[in-house]
Amino acid sequence: MSGRKLIYQIYPAAFGTLNDIAKRLPEIAKLSPDYIWLNPFFESPWLEGGYDVADYLKVNQRFGTMGDFRKLVARAREFKIEILLDLVLNHTSCQHEWFEKSRNRDVWYDDYYIWLDKPLNWRSFFGGPAYEYDPVRGQYYLHLFDKSQPDLNFKNPRVVREFKRIIDFWMAEGIAGFRVDSANVLFESKLVSSRLPKMPGFLYYFQTKSTVKTLKSLFGGNGIFSIAEPVGGDFFGKKKFHELTERAFDASFNIGVLDAADTLFSDKAHPRPLNYRKWFRKLANWTPEPKLSFALESHDTPRAPSRFNADPKVLAMLQFLLPANFPCVYQGQELGMLNPKLGDCIADYPGVQSRAIYQQLINRGKTRTEAMSVIKKVSRDNARSPLDWEEYLRQSGEEDSVLNFYRQLVETWRTDEVLKKGVLRVKKIRKSGVFDFERSYGYKTYKVHLDLSGKTKSTLIDNLGQIVLSSR
Ligand code: NOJ
Repeated sequence: MSGRKLIYQIYPAAFGTLNDIAKRLPEIAKLSPDYIWLNPFFESPWLEGGYDVADYLKVNQRFGTMGDFRKLVARAREFKIEILLDLVLNHTSCQHEWFEKSRNRDVWYDDYYIWLDKPLNWRSFFGGPAYEYDPVRGQYYLHLFDKSQPDLNFKNPRVVREFKRIIDFWMAEGIAGFRVDSANVLFESKLVSSRLPKMPGFLYYFQTKSTVKTLKSLFGGNGIFSIAEPVGGDFFGKKKFHELTERAFDASFNIGVLDAADTLFSDKAHPRPLNYRKWFRKLANWTPEPKLSFALESHDTPRAPSRFNADPKVLAMLQFLLPANFPCVYQGQELGMLNPKLGDCIADYPGVQSRAIYQQLINRGKTRTEAMSVIKKVSRDNARSPLDWEEYLRQSGEEDSVLNFYRQLVETWRTDEVLKKGVLRVKKIRKSGVFDFERSYGYKTYKVHLDLSGKTKSTLIDNLGQIVLSSR
């Protein structure tokens, strides 16, 4: 499946319930997304924001019922919006019945997870060792993320069949497809041994015919739209992007693009000042990729205007005026939301990742205050606060608001030939945060001037010399 699609991401807890999401659709529809991607809302002990799924076929009570979900799908259709679910295939919750059976050596489930007698020295994405001892089974299991998320063994055809059933189940409920969580680390390789230096323990394992075949068997048919989330930050180069996306998925996020100013998923989480020059170059290099989904925010990042210390309207222009076939807007981004003030102590940050990073910082000798100043900047809890609907409605009624700027920008992105097909030419990049580029198609050339520092006005000037868009 191809085309240009706008994705709108919803972290359900920020809305309340599935019914609350349905209620807000008329406002969201004014941004005209093609898809709404819902973060996991399945049965889960909620130790990792719902990415610890205990039953893939059940709606978590806190969000409502299956009936509510059906109503949401139907209501979204009225606005020509299709639903994408978040499919977490790399791991389950340790409370999933497959894990319970596997740790008890039930023959059928024995090989559902990655069990070893001796742990390797792999590190988890949240820091710390990636193998945990399970006293019930008397072996170590792999968890690339939190220890409450044991990694599934995707080389086991039974595991693949389980997911085929899960995919069929949800497709029959009328959804359009999936955002595939941690898509590049599903297959562990035996080649990675403890001889390797300490690093997140995985290989980008798309080279083999059989892994591609497996992914295609899951996502390649039935009109399923699939968008992959590769983890691994800058490590994930262009070649791997192609291997991942071209062969098995319709589109793919590039976390390396997003992971510009700080390191979130690693042992070394620390905010560092953004090198605009490097970042713009990277964007210019990456964004023309036809299958790239370029997002500025997600449930895994702090709010972009806080993170990049920039005017939300300029960031919006950056996202939609560079070539963008699958832009993704994270709920609240269209309001220009900043990081909320969550508090001064780690207890105010509920996420498992925030806690893990905090602990690592303390272990490395940072004081509590120092550790908290890092957490405040990098924590993904910043993105998970409730949406302020009064503010939403206020901005909706105010002509110059960030929200209406986004709506206008999306309309231009959708209809304008030059933005649809125009070639990108970089003109000037300054380390102060200035990015000048052109988009040309046929005889038309648009000039874009972006200034993240806000010192000068950011503009889009068309081939007639008219200012089509301006940040102020
Ligand atoms: C990526 C998700 O975006 C993130 O929120 C989650 O912690 C990990 N995958 C593990 O599922």
